[in-house]
Amino acid sequence: MKTDELQRLLEDMTLEEKAEQLVQLHGGFFGDVGTITGPAAEFSMDADQPYRTGSVLGEAGAEHLRDLQDRMMAKQPHGIPALFMADVIHGYKTAFPVPIAIGSGFDAELAEEIASLAAEEAAAAGVHVTFSPMVDLVRDSRWGRCMESTGEDPYLNSLMAKALVKGFQGDDVSKPGKVAACVKHFAAYGAPVAGRDYNVTEICEHTLFEDYLKPYRAAVEAGVKLVMTAFNTIDRKPCTTNKRLLRDVLRGDMGFDGVVISDYNAIGETLNHGSSYDKADAAKKALEAGCDIDMMSDCYLGSVVRLIREGELDEKLLDEAVWRVLVLKNELGLFENPYKDGSPENEKRVIFSERHRELGRRAGAETAVLLKNNGILPLGDSGKIAVVGELTQDTRIVGSWSIFADTSKTVTLKNALCEVVPNGKFVFVGNDDPTDEEMAEIGVCDAVILAVGENEIPTGESMSVADISLNKAHLRLFERVMSCNKNTVVLVFGGRPLAIPEIAEKAPAIVEAWLPGTLGCLGIADILFGKKNPCGRLSMSIPYCSGQLPISYSQFMTGRPKPKTDGFVRYVSNYMDVPNHPLYPFGYGLSYGEAKYSPVRLSADVLKKGGVITASVDVTNDGGMEMKEAVQLYIRDVKGSVVRPVRELKGLKTVRLMPHETKTVSFEIDEPMLRFYDADMNFVSEPGEFVLWIGHDSGTENGRGFRVEG
Ligand code: NOJ
Repeated sequence: MKTDELQRLLEDMTLEEKAEQLVQLHGGFFGDVGTITGPAAEFSMDADQPYRTGSVLGEAGAEHLRDLQDRMMAKQPHGIPALFMADVIHGYKTAFPVPIAIGSGFDAELAEEIASLAAEEAAAAGVHVTFSPMVDLVRDSRWGRCMESTGEDPYLNSLMAKALVKGFQGDDVSKPGKVAACVKHFAAYGAPVAGRDYNVTEICEHTLFEDYLKPYRAAVEAGVKLVMTAFNTIDRKPCTTNKRLLRDVLRGDMGFDGVVISDYNAIGETLNHGSSYDKADAAKKALEAGCDIDMMSDCYLGSVVRLIREGELDEKLLDEAVWRVLVLKNELGLFENPYKDGSPENEKRVIFSERHRELGRRAGAETAVLLKNNGILPLGDSGKIAVVGELTQDTRIVGSWSIFADTSKTVTLKNALCEVVPNGKFVFVGNDDPTDEEMAEIGVCDAVILAVGENEIPTGESMSVADISLNKAHLRLFERVMSCNKNTVVLVFGGRPLAIPEIAEKAPAIVEAWLPGTLGCLGIADILFGKKNPCGRLSMSIPYCSGQLPISYSQFMTGRPKPKTDGFVRYVSNYMDVPNHPLYPFGYGLSYGEAKYSPVRLSADVLKKGGVITASVDVTNDGGMEMKEAVQLYIRDVKGSVVRPVRELKGLKTVRLMPHETKTVSFEIDEPMLRFYDADMNFVSEPGEFVLWIGHDSGTENGRGFRVEG
């Protein structure tokens, strides 16, 4: 539709019709509504009103959505098509590894490919908008939603945000196979106090702008069409009614001109926060703050029209919000084709196609992280191997945000091993408490694959824990298995980094398997048996224990830094019982064979105004298998007008190396990449001494100093 036609449409709409465009309801409102009961009654809606709303949450399936679209358009005074929005977080029917694993791919291309195939399936099923990517920076694995984030680092999350937006949306959301993306949860939802979901967020201005806002900004720069507000507070104000956050920062500073949608009942929840007096007050505050769509509360529905009629709310605010919703519908091409790609033929063609299955398997291999290997891996396929633990036969390892996944297609680890090593001599013990006879059998095997950790149930929304230790039953199982067979490879499943110090100390090999999606176990089996070389890197540090949380490699210098010694030192900043550093740091992960790095070379020691320094290393594959190496650049600003982090990720390049091959990897260092929020909150760089490191992970010591001229 042309812009002037769209404008005329808006002008022709009644107040009621406009307010209804800003309401989003879930599928439960669209049943057979002869007598009004259930959710519609709770929201005091008449039988037809749900059909006149602007968008629907959480419904999918081509036939179903075509039918719902017909019914909705028939009831709309102007026949406006509805938007169908759903949580397609790490895949639709084919679930890919969870986002924390996608982050651990350390590979923007892989992330883009995953989003693009997820979009194809969702679009075929009639979905127009996905509530993804979730780029909430997270440094505390007590928070169950860390599973949904790509990790702890602003730079990595920004790369991922861009890649995922690009994968979902392409360069034109109206094209076949594309959906509009919705970045969430704005802002800093990943930092709830004490890791407890829905709690308030208490962070300072510098931390907010320097770390937490960056990935959302990256998504906006990538052209994301929607932003979802967060449940938490910023500056003691719930984000959904936070005018400064939504109008000044998001729309003003970041230049976002798309649709802002509340999280589920987040406008209504401001009453529980105690920052709105009643629903009308909440509606007024949210609309004034710039929240366009009210997801699943009746605040807009029940108050907006009345507030405008009583002169309490400016109609311009309503028009502005409705305009953005209409523009989005138009950009998706819904006025011309309200079903977009949704068709049973497309579903049949795309879902679980060969390409999607191949990526599901490859993504499983490329996002798992090899944490330890004394040489036992890869396993040979001629020996007898015990496969132990309930998780080896559990189908609930897909991931907790895979509501549409076809779980009948889930490949368990057991089935994956049988497929990848068809002639393998496996002894399957699918429980966590083997009998003495089973233990005796495990004892005589050449090696053991033991699965511990968590399936998809204990992570995700609201699943916070106070203690991130591995559960006691699995620790006991590990000790029992190790006591009868030392050749034990431990796979750790789960959506959060779990504290596994005992396993790290004793097991000869450990793989962080995350929650690998429908087909990811095939990829994990591939790496266990050397059919693929592991290449995943930790997107979140794995701590020793809960007491270290929140934790990140990117800490600040304290006034009493710890000297480089093991053990406790009094009157400096350290713990008496655990080290300051995590068990495994951000960026860490092994392969079969090592990537050797030459010392860093700099094209100059001084960065002049407007200039560039090139920093290079030679990276050599020292092993016998092809390798994918994520080369990481870290920088430290030694002195500044505010305290600066000990190091920050500033560059990432992926190289593929054949055995014994060497490649030169270079990064350009320029002034903009050294900018930060100074003492007066100006985004600038400051001249002086810097150090840069290029290496395998955030602990690399392969560094060089350089100077920046004023
Ligand atoms: C609540 C969650 O916080 C959000 O991430 C999700 O997109 C919405 N529900 C809709 O399902």
